[in-house]
Amino acid sequence: MGGEQCLSDATGAAVVTGAGSGIGAAIARRAAARGMPVVLADVSAERIEAVARVITDAGGDALTVPTDVADPGSVESLADAAYARHDRVALLINNAGVESLGRLWELPVDEWRRVMSVNIDGAFHGIRSFVPRMGADSRPSRVVTTTSVGGIGTLAGMGSYGVSKHAVQQMAETLYLECAETFPQIGVSAFVPAHVTTRIFEDVASSAHADEAADHWRTQLREKGMTADEAARIFFEGADRGDFWICTHPDVYARLAGRRATLLTEALPPDFE
Ligand SMILES: NC(=O)c1ccc[n+]([C@@H]2O[C@H](COP(=O)([O-])OP(=O)(O)OC[C@H]3O[C@@H](n4cnc5c(N)ncnc54)[C@H](O)[C@@H]3O)[C@@H](O)[C@H]2O)c1
Repeated sequence: MGGEQCLSDATGAAVVTGAGSGIGAAIARRAAARGMPVVLADVSAERIEAVARVITDAGGDALTVPTDVADPGSVESLADAAYARHDRVALLINNAGVESLGRLWELPVDEWRRVMSVNIDGAFHGIRSFVPRMGADSRPSRVVTTTSVGGIGTLAGMGSYGVSKHAVQQMAETLYLECAETFPQIGVSAFVPAHVTTRIFEDVASSAHADEAADHWRTQLREKGMTADEAARIFFEGADRGDFWICTHPDVYARLAGRRATLLTEALPPDFE
């Protein structure tokens, strides 16, 4: 799959959004360890500075660009900064994301908008600001969207996140088709994590239901989660092969995708996973 744009052929910088923590930080550290200069983007300047120190202390090259992916101007400035420092971007990872818990009718409108603007608009802004510049370069490169198994299945109580992840999954699939037509040198992947131990449930908005659910999910990630470093290892294995689907937990993906295929082909109503 997509062998022409395997990452191992690519030279150039890696731009990672949400690079201040968890999966993004681990991918950035691993990219740097493989010799790629990295551009670290996150809404938290403090967190990317800390990740950059680890990378530069180990002899790597890291540029920090505080960025709010929900803001198209901020992502355009990120692309300007990346291309001012580096000839080319070989890897863009639209990874920044936020979690949200609560039944649909209980979600404040601002919370709904926050999730959609970071998780969906953020990936869209990354594509808008980077793909034309990456496409102007005939050498191989790759654009990755971090989606989620939440973009394959359906969970009650996590609707805003699930809606956003189904949307970015669709965005990654559309981008795959569009790049194949227009910029065949750009490979496209959906990185589909399941449980990875990160701080993602630390910032969920507070409500009685959400607090209880957040405790449950924090425990799940702590007890059952894969480390972010292991997720990053799996990520590069898939990117090096040029895979579209890169799954941290192929068994979970297969169960949810199989269930979804059955629901769709047999026109069944949603059920509990
Ligand atoms: N951890 C998991 O189990 C899991 C599972 C499936 C998918 N994911 C996805 O992986 C991605 C990374 O999540 P993580 O688990 O590493 O979480 P994390 O909270 O540890 O890291 C996310 C980073 O994104 C940054 N961020 C948030 N809003 C931003 C914005 N507007 N602009 C720029 N940066 C912003 C945060 O500051 C944080 O540093 C997310 O897209 C998430 O949905 C995670």
